[in-house]
Amino acid sequence: MNSFRLIQISDTHLSRARPHFVGNYEIAAQHVAGEKPDMVIHSGDIAVDAPTRPDDLVFAQEALNSLGVPCRTIAGNHDVGDNPGDNDYQPGQRINAPWISAFEAVFGPSQWQFEAAGWHILGINAQLFLSGLDEESAQMVWLEEALDRAGDKPVALFCHKPLLNKALDEETEVAFRYVPLACRPRLNALLQAANVRLFSCGHVHQSRDHVVDGIRHVWAPATAFTLPDAMQPRVGVKRCGLVHYAFTPGDVQVETVFPEAMQHHELTVIKDAYA
Ligand SMILES: [Fe+2]
Ligand SMILES: [Fe+2]
Repeated sequence: MNSFRLIQISDTHLSRARPHFVGNYEIAAQHVAGEKPDMVIHSGDIAVDAPTRPDDLVFAQEALNSLGVPCRTIAGNHDVGDNPGDNDYQPGQRINAPWISAFEAVFGPSQWQFEAAGWHILGINAQLFLSGLDEESAQMVWLEEALDRAGDKPVALFCHKPLLNKALDEETEVAFRYVPLACRPRLNALLQAANVRLFSCGHVHQSRDHVVDGIRHVWAPATAFTLPDAMQPRVGVKRCGLVHYAFTPGDVQVETVFPEAMQHHELTVIKDAYA
C-alpha cells in the first residue's frame, strides 16, 4: 500500500444515558462515510464517564462499529480514569487496573502498532504516565520495543494527551493537560532516537498543528464540545472537527477540518452531561 488515508476523531464523549453529544458524532460519521478513509483512529475520551457508567464504552463501540471502516482506539481520562500530574495534581478518578481491563474488554489492547504506506503507526495510553501501575513500566518497555521495530521508518504516535505546549522543559499552566514533566525526558529520548515525525493527540478540545524539536504535534479538535475561555485558557482553535491524514512513504499531509454543521454547545449542556 503506497498511500494510507486516515481520519482521526477525538473526544466524542459518547453515552447512551447522556446522549448530549451524539448529534456531533453523527455529523462526524457522515463525514467519514463521505471520505471513506482506510481507517479511523479515535484518540480518547470516547465515553462521557466510563468509570462510573461502563455502558458508555459499549455504546461508543456500537457507534464506532457503525462507521463501517476499521477503527483503532486509545484510552482517554474519561475512559479509564486519569493520572497524577504536574504540581502535585491528583485526579478525582485515578486510573486503575480494573478500569483499564474494562476498556480493553471492549476495545482491545491499550497499546497497538501497525505499518502502512512505509510508516510505523503506534497508539499508547497517556493516563499511565506517573500512575505507578505495573502497566506504566510495561508500556515503556513496549514502546521501546515498538520504536526499535520501526527501525528507520517514519513513526506516527497517537496519545490522548499532548506531549507539551511550547517546549519540553516548560512550566505547565494546566497540570492535567500534558504528559507530566517528570515523564518527558525519558519519553522524548525514545522519540528522538527513533524517526518519530508525528505526535497526534486529543484531550484539550482545541486544535493545533506545530513543530517542536523536529516533531509535528497535531492536536485534534474534539467532536463533542469546546469550553469557554473563562473555564479554559485558549492555546489553539476552539472549534469542533476532525483531522485527515494522507500517509505516503516518507511524507504525510495533514488537514484539520471543521464541519459547519457541528454544534458548539452552551456550557449548561456540557454541565448537564456531567451532572
Ligand atoms: Fe475530552
Ligand atoms: Fe481528556
